[in-house]
Amino acid sequence: MKVYIIGAGPGDPGLITVKGAELVARCPVVLYTGSLVPVEVVARARPDATVLDSSGMTLDEIMAILSAARDAGHDVARVHTGDPAVFGSTAEQMRRMAALGIAYEIIPGVSSFTAAAAVLGRELTLPELCQTVILTRAEGRTPMPLKEKLPDLAQHQATLALFLSITLLDEVVRDLMPSYGADCPAAVVHKATWPDQVIVTGTLSDIVEKVREAKIRATAMVLVGRVLTASDFAESRLYAADFSHGYRRAQHVGEGT
Ligand SMILES: C[S@@+](CC[C@H](N)C(=O)[O-])C[C@H]1O[C@@H](n2cnc3c(N)ncnc32)[C@H](O)[C@@H]1O
Repeated sequence: MKVYIIGAGPGDPGLITVKGAELVARCPVVLYTGSLVPVEVVARARPDATVLDSSGMTLDEIMAILSAARDAGHDVARVHTGDPAVFGSTAEQMRRMAALGIAYEIIPGVSSFTAAAAVLGRELTLPELCQTVILTRAEGRTPMPLKEKLPDLAQHQATLALFLSITLLDEVVRDLMPSYGADCPAAVVHKATWPDQVIVTGTLSDIVEKVREAKIRATAMVLVGRVLTASDFAESRLYAADFSHGYRRAQHVGEGT
């Protein structure tokens, strides 16, 4: 018996991995976070499967279901939104499973920050402009560790992907403005890859107003950084004709086509 912690992807049911979809279709118990995982993902469950939405459950209630499945010898598809490795609240479940001797395996998924980049049609790292992406959140009811305050992270001017922060956008902009500048591009993607996806783009100076007008108050990825609009970045060395690597020899003048 095993619990498979599966990343369902950001919304589009086609964005779960093949392995994740096969496990959802095979496991006799499917426990999914119904707040963000669309029902189409768990509609793949076999007809006799027990399919439960964990969005209204406590950790103790979730663990009771996993323990009962273990006692019955039933595999569980534990389906989480995006990728389980970021802001997934999966670590606490894994810690309890380890203590209870319940085996588990993680099946990764497409995170909402990469889905947001995809629907914006952008790459989050660009040669010589930005080679770092910071995945973080604004400080709300969950306190931030002392060394991870947004104004401090902002000093790097790396591409920022902010989860769970849309209701704190005012504060986010206030914290970022001194380092990134008012003209720094910002984008908010609400429900990336869902049928009711909304994209708002602007700069730190106008994004708050634009998001207010769009009435986005939940399930949004906030991306900030020059990569969002840059067009004068350097080309990567990977495809440069004069660059050799393990898969290709550099071409010289007069060589090749
Ligand atoms: C509990 S976290 C889960 C993140 C998830 N593990 C992931 O990899 O995307 C929920 C937050 O992720 C972001 N999120 C999840 N799905 C999203 C989507 N389809 N579009 C935009 N943001 C999304 C929002 O910031 C939301 O508040």
